Amino acid sequence: MDSEKRKMLIKMAIEQLDFSYTPYSNFKVGAALLAKNGTIFTGCNIENAAYTPTNCAERTAFFKAVSEGVTEFEAICIVGGQDGVLSEFAPPCGVCRQVMMEFCDPEGFEILLAKSTEDYLVYTLAALMPMGFGPGNLA
Ligand code: THU
Repeated sequence: MDSEKRKMLIKMAIEQLDFSYTPYSNFKVGAALLAKNGTIFTGCNIENAAYTPTNCAERTAFFKAVSEGVTEFEAICIVGGQDGVLSEFAPPCGVCRQVMMEFCDPEGFEILLAKSTEDYLVYTLAALMPMGFGPGNLA
């Protein structure tokens, strides 16, 4: 993916921090998920007083896409930090990595972890989920 596209995803993920609903942790996460058809689905984390129903930003983006019939993806950008301050990279949790395994090619899907449009890391899903379990294991 070219760097202009990456910057666009980073900007859109950062915009999501304003919508992040985090009265319990105040750890704000934003995501921007690029589908193969060019559509970008955004997401934020959404916490809950019962804690476990909390949904991560990445899964919000994936579930928005899948619920609209889009199931093929190229890349996701994730940003996050306490109070929405992006002082560290915010890697995806294990549950979100597993959701990525369901819909993404481990070798081709790019995961961008960003602190700003200039400061980001790029990983494949395979790098962050070695020997992951996916649909192929049930085939
Ligand atoms: N969180 C995400 O949104 N994505 C992740 O991959 C890791 C964690 C959220 C969940 C919760 O609202 C807050 O960060 C602290 O765990």
